[in-house]
Amino acid sequence: MKPILDLDFIDNRTPEQAAATPSCDTHITKDSNTGRARKLYIESYGCAMNFSDSEIVSSIMFEQGFDTTADIAQADLVFLNTCSIREKAEQTVRNRLGQINYHKKRKPGMVIGILGCMAERLKKSLLEEEKIVDLVVGPDAYRDLPNLISEVDGGQKAVNVLLSREETYADINPIRLNSNGVSAFISIMRGCDNMCSFCVVPFTRGRERSRDAHSIVREAKALVEQGYKEVTLLGQNVDSYKWASEDGTESVNFAQLLEMVALLSPDLRVRFSTSHPKDITDEVLYTMKKYDNICKYIHLPAQSGNSRVLELMNRTYDREWYINRVDAIRAILGEDCGISSDMIAGFCTETEEEHQDTLSLMDYVQYDYSYMFFYSERPGTLAARKLEDDIPLEVKKRRLDEIINKQRETSLARNKRDIGKVHKVLVEGPSKKSEEQLSGRNDQNKVVIFDKKHYKKGDYVNVLVTDCSVGTLFGEAVD
Ligand code: SAH
Ligand code: SF4
Ligand code: F3S
Repeated sequence: MKPILDLDFIDNRTPEQAAATPSCDTHITKDSNTGRARKLYIESYGCAMNFSDSEIVSSIMFEQGFDTTADIAQADLVFLNTCSIREKAEQTVRNRLGQINYHKKRKPGMVIGILGCMAERLKKSLLEEEKIVDLVVGPDAYRDLPNLISEVDGGQKAVNVLLSREETYADINPIRLNSNGVSAFISIMRGCDNMCSFCVVPFTRGRERSRDAHSIVREAKALVEQGYKEVTLLGQNVDSYKWASEDGTESVNFAQLLEMVALLSPDLRVRFSTSHPKDITDEVLYTMKKYDNICKYIHLPAQSGNSRVLELMNRTYDREWYINRVDAIRAILGEDCGISSDMIAGFCTETEEEHQDTLSLMDYVQYDYSYMFFYSERPGTLAARKLEDDIPLEVKKRRLDEIINKQRETSLARNKRDIGKVHKVLVEGPSKKSEEQLSGRNDQNKVVIFDKKHYKKGDYVNVLVTDCSVGTLFGEAVD
């Protein structure tokens, strides 16, 4: 799953400012204002899965008489939907709880709940460690929120961190929280069975299970009817999506699901994340090729370019296998297909030569972009139990810098290839810098900025790219 946030920041705001807004670009709710009795403020951290879950949680709470609010000071209930992927992700939440204390002191009845992966990992010890927390709820227990809230209303603290083998929230209609009205996430599966040795997700999200294909298609269809133009199908490992009807007469794999969603409307863009290199099939690549509205972009996290390190990471593929999958993507979908990666610098026992293999893999693949991290040991994972976290922090950071610099080079080179070509851009809204310009994405998920003219959010616009930076394409609309 692509991480949405991993920002380093320098917090130089006053305590009032800091308490009013999260310290980084975290997703918070919009006001729903339908006249319900109580107000919920929810902040989401981590990956798209959590953002999608917050929409399910808001829907459950709406039924319980809670409107959403973007103003924490107005909230009766504050939820932080948390991430445990790296130590820093957890620290960010703990810092945020310190700031939220400021509001709770002014509004003593305010209920504070921790949801998501940190809730699952730390369970009831969170209540002891963070005194202001009233409620701890794991990712498979959101249906129990109404009961848990009434326990808290009755003066108790409440915890439910039970994981499930079945829960997919298939029947819950998410309330789109931060949506631009153009693109939305649809969760197609939950959990992960892969056990990569560095990763906490199998422990926080439980066993992998796939959601009823028809409920996914229904959700996508409803979005089309509401005017949405893009859906992203979400799972930790979408290629292992596999759903079968209870009577066993029907079974749907990921390629078939992609096709079912793509057929809803040629005007609907279909994206997906995350693909696992061990599971991505040629059938998926051919399905992508067959439908113009399936975006030609694949997030295919490598983690490392060295086979020994990949084995220690328990990724179950080696460098050659990964390269073979990239070659298949290029052969079937062409050189223009976007590919991105996640990379971990300084995993246990990684040598300097092995780190060079990561850089050389980046040279080979020519990623459009990557999400890059240094290794952070997570308690309870296979690596924490079996391997020594022996690479000094400054070495990890230096290797990460080298990986980042390499990625900047390749991103720029890949973006330069786009100059002089016309790209179909789905407009998401005004650009950050100017109301006179629009921002959207091309098929390869790259941000494209161009002068507004008569175009608006939700339009598909053909844009001739004339310039680029490392992270953005610039161009002009051509009619
Ligand atoms: N399911 C996705 C990954 C989800 S976690 C996949 O298999 O690709 C997102 C990314 O966080 C991972 O790809 C990995 O690069 C990074 N990550 C996970 N655990 C980490 C750890 N302990 N230290 C540093 N980075 C980590
Ligand atoms: Fe974590 Fe690996 Fe599962 Fe991705 S595939 S969520 S990295 S265990
Ligand atoms: Fe996502 Fe973080 Fe959990 S990356 S699955 S929110 S640990």
